Amino acid sequence: MYVSQNAVMKRRDFIHWVGLGWIASSLPVAIAACSSQTAPKSSTGDWQTVGTSAELDKAGQLLAKNSPVGSVLVVGTSKTENLTAVDPTCTHRGCTVVWQTEAKKFACPCHGSEFGIDGKVQKGPATTPLKTYAAKIEGDSVVVKPT
Ligand code: FES
Repeated sequence: MYVSQNAVMKRRDFIHWVGLGWIASSLPVAIAACSSQTAPKSSTGDWQTVGTSAELDKAGQLLAKNSPVGSVLVVGTSKTENLTAVDPTCTHRGCTVVWQTEAKKFACPCHGSEFGIDGKVQKGPATTPLKTYAAKIEGDSVVVKPT
């Protein structure tokens, strides 16, 4: 009697370990399948395309609300040496800031916060700078990556 109970336990243990082995061997395949779907769209590292240089040149700025890195506002043209790119989401309450070309600053239409071209707060009520991105022209595309 004692021997047969022991045999049953061993069989259960064996099934348990085989089950774990199957799950463990399946995990790398599942992880590989997921990671291939989230691969960056740009071929150069983590640079992400947010629009075309033609769109940027048309207005001297380009707002991409649903880019791969989120909302991005790029300021300049394809001829600009150092493009500026920020997340235009105001750090006060989340309105979208606008670029004022003449004043060379970002202004929030909701409560009047102002930010410099580097994203730093120039006037409250916001106290936190805008998130900035590195930006450049690559072929006919405007690409950005978090700084
Ligand atoms: S949401 Fe921009 S100043 Fe309040």
